[in-house]
Amino acid sequence: MTEQGAQANSSAEHLPVLLEESVKALAIKPDGIYLDGTFGRGGHSKAILQQLGPDGRLLAVDKDPEAIRTAQVQFGDDGRFEIVRGSFTMLEQEVKQRGWTGKVNGILLDLGVSSPQLDDADRGFSFRADGPLDMRMDPESGISAADWLAEASDSDIAVVLKEYGEERYAKRIARAIVESRVQDGPILTTGRLAKVVTDANPRWEKNKDPATRSFQGIRIYINRELADLDDVLAQVLNILTPGGRLAVISFHSLEDRRVKQFMRREARGGEFPPDLPVTQAQFKPNIRLVGKAVRAGEAELAVNPRARSAVLRIAERMQ
Ligand SMILES: C[S@@+](CC[C@H](N)C(=O)[O-])C[C@H]1O[C@@H](n2cnc3c(N)ncnc32)[C@H](O)[C@@H]1O
Repeated sequence: MTEQGAQANSSAEHLPVLLEESVKALAIKPDGIYLDGTFGRGGHSKAILQQLGPDGRLLAVDKDPEAIRTAQVQFGDDGRFEIVRGSFTMLEQEVKQRGWTGKVNGILLDLGVSSPQLDDADRGFSFRADGPLDMRMDPESGISAADWLAEASDSDIAVVLKEYGEERYAKRIARAIVESRVQDGPILTTGRLAKVVTDANPRWEKNKDPATRSFQGIRIYINRELADLDDVLAQVLNILTPGGRLAVISFHSLEDRRVKQFMRREARGGEFPPDLPVTQAQFKPNIRLVGKAVRAGEAELAVNPRARSAVLRIAERMQ
C-alpha cells in the first residue's frame, strides 16, 4: 500500500481491502485447500474460513509476530486452520511437507504492510508518528532501517530510494541522509529521518507527504518485498491444482507490474520463434487470466482510503 494511504486510516484495526472481490476470486470449494500468504490481522482468512466446510484447510503465513499472535487468538481452536511464521517464500516448502504439492485450490497474497504495523510508532514504519527507526515486518530477523542507514553509502541509499521508492530526488535525499549522519550521528528515529528527507525534497507532490516515497523505498528494501514476491510467484504453478486460483492484491506499481507480467507470461504459454508455425494447443498456457484488474469501488473507498491504490489480479491454473 502507499504509506500515505495507509496512514490516512488512523485506527488501530486493519480493514481488509477488496475483501469480497478477492475471496470471490478464489472460487472457494468447501473441502478445498487454501493459502493466505499475508495473514495480517486475518480479515481475509476469516472470510475464507467462513466459506470452508469441516474438511477444508487454510494455511496462513506472516512474517510479523503480532500477526501470529492474532491468528492464535482468533483461530487457534479451529482445526481447519494453521499459521506459520515466516516469509511466504516458504509456501512451496510448507505445502510439500503437508503432501499438498499440486493440490492447493487457492492462494491469496495481500501485499505490503498492515495498518497496525504502520500505526504503531514503535514498529518504526511511520513518517507521521515518531518512533525507533526499524521498519522490519519481523523485528527479530534481518537488519533495521536505522542499522542499514548507519552504514550504507549515499549511492546505495540513492538506488533504494529511486528503485523502490520511485523518488525523483533520490540522490539529493541520499546525500542529505549521509550528511545528517556525519554531522549529528546515526539516524535512530522515524521523526528525524522524515525531517531530513522532507528538508532535502525540493518539490513536494500534491496530496503526498514529501517523505512518502523515501519511506516506501527503505521499507521495501529492508523487508525484501519485491524479491519475496518474485520468489513466491515462481512457486505458484507447482503449488496449485488445475483449476486452482491465485489472487494478488498489490498496492503500488512495482508490485503490480511484477504480478501482471508473471500472469501474462504464463497465460501466453511457450515461447516459439516468430516464424515457426505453432498451433494454439502447442502454446500450452499454464494459467488463464480471470477477468481484468479489479480496483476498489466508491463504497469501499469511502470507508477505507487505504484501498485507493489497491489492484487485485486473478489467475487460474490450467491442466
Ligand atoms: C496488507 S497486510 C495483510 C492484511 C490481511 N489480508 C488482513 O485482512 O488482515 C500484509 C501482511 O503481510 C505480511 N507480509 C508482507 N510480506 C510478507 C512476506 N513476504 N511473507 C510473509 N508475510 C508478509 C505483513 O507482515 C502484513 O502483516
